[in-house]
Amino acid sequence: MDLYHRLLSPRVAALIVTLRENGLPNAMVAAWHTPVSIKPPILAVSIAPGRLTRRLIQSAGEFTVNVPDASLIKEVRIAGSRSGASYDKSRLFRYASGLRVRTPVIKNALGCIECTLNRILEMGDHSVVFGNVVAAYAKGFRDVWISPSPLLHLGSDYYTTMGRRLELKNDEPK
Ligand SMILES: Cc1cc2nc3c(=O)[nH]c(=O)nc-3n(C[C@H](O)[C@H](O)[C@H](O)COP(=O)(O)O)c2cc1C
Repeated sequence: MDLYHRLLSPRVAALIVTLRENGLPNAMVAAWHTPVSIKPPILAVSIAPGRLTRRLIQSAGEFTVNVPDASLIKEVRIAGSRSGASYDKSRLFRYASGLRVRTPVIKNALGCIECTLNRILEMGDHSVVFGNVVAAYAKGFRDVWISPSPLLHLGSDYYTTMGRRLELKNDEPK
């Protein structure tokens, strides 16, 4: 039962960037994220209460969600295993300014979503952070991901990337 969530993998290994009180960025990895509303656009990320990111989202009231490709797998591993509470991750990525928030976005990410904090709900052993999407942009994307592939997390130390893209043809007569 503890691994029920892996049945729903792979998921994009998203990089959640927040701003520290000293103005430097901090990035953590989150695979537990989901869109929850289109109009208005709202997403949710499930973050364990002990993460520095959880505290910084609450204090700054905003965060960015960045989609890496496989070229960033080493950085993803560091961002996802070391806490900014005891290790400075501010130079792990190259950053660019956000369009609508003060928090930066990762320069060589495939896609970036800028969020302001909507609310945080405590749910079991995680905090579910709801973000209002105030900007979203990407490269290699035309309605869906084309190429290169986002880095996808399978669970534990296993990752994958998109192989075949299946397109459903609607052959039904209209
Ligand atoms: C692939 C991957 C996915 C992860 N997904 C989540 C997640 O969805 N929620 C969470 O709280 N932690 C997740 N983590 C763990 C955090 O990224 C990790 O604890 C990180 O060091 C927290 O950093 P911070 O303390 O600087 O915020 C994940 C780690 C990896 C490697």
